[in-house]
Amino acid sequence: MPRLHVNIDHVATLRQARRSQEPDPVTAAAICELAGADGITVHLREDRRHIQDRDVHILRKTVKTLLNLEMALTPEILEIALDVSPDQVCIVPEKRQELTTEGGLDVAGHSASLDDAIPRFKGAGIEVSLFVDPMPEPIELAAQLGADFVEIHTGSYANAPTGRARSAELDRLKTSAHYAESLGLRVNAGHGLDYRNILPVVQIPQVEELNIGYSILCRSIYVGLDQAVREMQDRILAAAPPEAEESPAVAQKKKGSRA
Ligand code: PXP
Repeated sequence: MPRLHVNIDHVATLRQARRSQEPDPVTAAAICELAGADGITVHLREDRRHIQDRDVHILRKTVKTLLNLEMALTPEILEIALDVSPDQVCIVPEKRQELTTEGGLDVAGHSASLDDAIPRFKGAGIEVSLFVDPMPEPIELAAQLGADFVEIHTGSYANAPTGRARSAELDRLKTSAHYAESLGLRVNAGHGLDYRNILPVVQIPQVEELNIGYSILCRSIYVGLDQAVREMQDRILAAAPPEAEESPAVAQKKKGSRA
């Protein structure tokens, strides 16, 4: 069954709307963990529009599950990431004007900086994931560069305008997950996933971790954060294939991975 990593950026978005101290993503992370989240994800953006340096440093001390830091590969953020030492980094593209991460990383265009950074992260005991579109080229390059994971961008699937388009996008996710596994990569997925569209993604056997933020935070406005996380975990549990249907390679890797 995939593990649920809750992205709490938008708790900080609300706080930054008033440049105040509430709501605090550190408190939110603890509530998510108590509700059963398997990990906490935050994105320290260059423009610091939501998560702040202080959040990342405190979360490193307080998160008891797993801390995944999403980041653009800039010299400043790279040094912060190495200093904070999260359990995992996910390298994403970043544009100042975008509302959220819009597409997968241009792995070819960043191959020189990735080639330099990936060994530094791995040498520091930090697992490296690259956020990629569901296409063969970036996945192949991620494997060549020595990434541990690819996080497959589920945005086109989530935003598909028709059932037919969604089903075609789901096929791309499945093919990409299978291809990544064949190259020795581990597979995560995320972006735009919600309580309704999550089911088929949970059933992709290679997917180990789901990064979900916006839908959980939206629901938390109505039902509370604890309940919103529990409901998402319930959906994942209900949709998960029996262990026997899990890809043998994934099962083997999970055995050797962190508990
Ligand atoms: N994965 C990555 C790499 C992201 O950039 C984001 C958005 O911050 C997410 C997952 C979560 O997306 P959403 O907020 O739509 O659930």
